[in-house]
This record gives sequence, C-alpha cells and structure tokens, in this order.
Amino acid sequence: MAVPSEKAPLFTPATLRQIAEQFGTPVYVYDADTLRAQLEKLKRFDHVRFAQKACSNVHVLRVLREAGALVDCVSLGELERAVRAGFEPGQDPAQIVYTADVLTKDALDRLVETKVPMNAGSIDMLAQLGTRSPGHAVWLRMNPGFGSGHSKKTNTGGESSKHGIWHEQLPDALRVVDHFGLDLVGFHMHIGSGADMTHLERVCDAMVNMVVDSGRDVRAISGGGGLSIPYRSHESNIDPQAYFERWHAARQRLEVYLEHPVSLELEPGRYLAGPAGVLVTEVRATKSMGGNHFTLVDAGFNDLMRASMYGAYHEITLLPQDGAPRATRPTVVAGPLCESGDVFTQTSSSELDPRPLPEAEVGDLLVFHDAGAYGASMSSNYNSRPLVPEVLIDGGKVQLIRRRQTIADLLQLELDIDQRG
Ligand code: LLP
Repeated sequence: MAVPSEKAPLFTPATLRQIAEQFGTPVYVYDADTLRAQLEKLKRFDHVRFAQKACSNVHVLRVLREAGALVDCVSLGELERAVRAGFEPGQDPAQIVYTADVLTKDALDRLVETKVPMNAGSIDMLAQLGTRSPGHAVWLRMNPGFGSGHSKKTNTGGESSKHGIWHEQLPDALRVVDHFGLDLVGFHMHIGSGADMTHLERVCDAMVNMVVDSGRDVRAISGGGGLSIPYRSHESNIDPQAYFERWHAARQRLEVYLEHPVSLELEPGRYLAGPAGVLVTEVRATKSMGGNHFTLVDAGFNDLMRASMYGAYHEITLLPQDGAPRATRPTVVAGPLCESGDVFTQTSSSELDPRPLPEAEVGDLLVFHDAGAYGASMSSNYNSRPLVPEVLIDGGKVQLIRRRQTIADLLQLELDIDQRG
C-alpha cells in the first residue's frame, strides 16, 4: 500500500517496486506520456525548444522530438546529444540552437562545421564566431536589466547576473553582427527559472522595445524558459494559455511594426521534464538525534542536488515494504554523503525542515516527486558514487535508458601510470 500523497501519483507503487527490484536504487523513472502532455499544453507557441539541460538523456530528447519539440543546447556535449537524438542541423526553423555566454573552443569548431545557429550571451561570442564563420545565423540573448527566479541562483537577469548581453550594449552587439555580416534571426530573453507571471508583462514589453530600439528586422523572438511547476500540492499550475496570450500580444505588436509575421518561440526545460520524473530511493537507516528523527536513503545530493543547492522542495512518498499503514512523525530525510548539507528536507537558508512522513523502516522505498528536471542532469560522482540508472516508461513499456555507471567506469578514467619508472 502506498502512503497517499496529495499529488496525483505518476506511477503506481507496484510499478516503482518492480523497477527498484529490477534495476536497483537509486533510480530515475520518467513517463513519456507526461513529457508529451506537458509539450501539448504549449502547442500554441510556434516552436517549443526544449532546454535539455533540464533532462538531457537522448531517449527523453527523442520522445520530445517525435512529439514536435525543437531543442536547445548549452555545450558541445548537449549539441552531440541533440544530434544523437535525431535533431538535424541545417533545417529551417533550426532544430538545434546553441545558447551560452561562453563559446568554448570545441563548441566553436562544431558550430562552424554544422552551422547550428548561436544564441549569443556575450559580445565576445559574436566576434569569435564571426571571425570563423561570417554570415552565421545568430540570436541575441539580451539581459533586459531585471530578472526573477525561484532562487537567487536561478535569477538570470539584472546586473548581478552573468547572463546575456546587457541591454545598454545592444548597439555594440549590433556593430559586431554587422562587421561579420552575421544573420540576425531574432532576440531572446530568459530572465530566470521559476519567474512569476507578474514579471512576464515586463519582459514582453522589454522585448518589444528592444526590437524597436535595435532598428533591425527580425524573423523571430524567444521568451526563453522559466515556466514554473507546482512542487507542493497546494501550489497551482501556471496557465499556459495566459502565458501564451502575453507573448502573442507582444509578437503581434512587432508584426504590426515590422509588417511581416514574426515567429514566437519558448524554451522551457522544467515545465516539460519536471513533472515527468521521479527518483526512487531505498531507506537504508533511521535514527533519532535529540529532537530530530532522520530517515537516511541511498541517494544523496550527488543524485538530486536541488534541495541542497536551493532549498528546493520535492514532495516525498514512502512506499512501505509490507504495505502496512504507519504512524506519521516529523522526519528529516537525508542521504549517504559525508556532508552535513546532504539533506533533502531543508529550507533555502539551509535550516532542517522536518516533514510529516510515515515512519520508515530499512528496505522501504522513498520516492522524490517532480524530479524529472535538474535531477539526473545535475548529478555528479561526488564521494565516488556512480551515476544512477534512468528508466523510461512509454505506453506500458519499461525501458532502461541509461545503465548504472560502475565503479570500474570511474576508475578507468584515472590513467594507469607506472609508478616504478
Ligand atoms: N533557457 C535558458 C537560456 C536557461 O538558462 C534556462 C535555464 C532555460 C531556458 C530553462 O529554464 P527552465 O524552463 O527549466 O526554468 N538548476 C535549476 C534551474 C537552473 C536553470 C538554468 N537555466 C533548478 O534546479 O531549479
């Protein structure tokens, strides 16, 4: 028996138990139908470009590609993932766009080769690409001077942010665009992750003013990502129609001004992938420390970093091994890492935030909900812990889409140097 969570469960307890049995824990489990359903809610936008940093497994990318999404990449690795997932460079509209503030040399080589358009977050990027690939298609990612986010760390606008081209430097950016004859596709603004609707109006106005001030003719605008999802059961969903209407109104103002159609893109990551995944862990120990009761699981912040990094909240469900109902008690859920901050129930100021949870026993499963975005993709090998497997459920079919990394995989990277010589 599952201990009920107020959120509608993505998978049945029986399915998760079977997956845990088959692939071990910790394990990420994704639902393809939820990925598609989230994408469908944004279908009024001309193009939805998945910000794959949220969840970059090629099989997840493939599901979204087949459902009609385009893709964004922020590194050479993400570019290669997009290609592996079947996105093709050289199409119109561009199936892949490279968005960053820094152009690494390896990524530059590949952009020149593939002609994948670049969304420039710094003027240096424009010069570096222009020198090698005159006429290359570019977007300008502008920092409008303000931002918003669910955490200070996810606010990507304003003068404290390293992201985007500062709005007052638009003329400098355009000079570089002109110097190299770069093909300006459009303007892009992403002011942060988890931004609220009140900022939307301001961003839309900033976008319209930016295009008008630029004096340029553009084919497209992108509102970036940032759409929030309800992590807590009482939080409500954003209204995708209202989100679209605001951007559509901005686009229409530009169409009147430019006297031709303007394509409207969105670049969400969390909205598509977040609700589509869970992290399944196993309880390995319980203990009481003075007034605090701890449930320790086999996943740490190396597997799911959001709580430690932002104090982010994930709903937690206990699946008792014996299915029997358990009494509830305030519980701190923590992981196995040698770090005091390896706690899943904490506030953004790193205070313990015990959660009323059914009393856990070793061997029970503990499920972290809404972990499809910035879960697996932010995981690391800290404490020499191998990356965990990822499983995709599509139409009842359970498929392993990333095997568990082995300790041998880790050790293999460290070269065998003959100490004798
Ligand atoms: N576009 C750009 C240029 C971005 O920088 C990001 C996120 C997105 C789109 C997608 O944002 P989304 O729709 O997923 O909010 N690790 C943090 C989020 C950091 C996001 C970084 N950039 C978290 O776990 O909340």
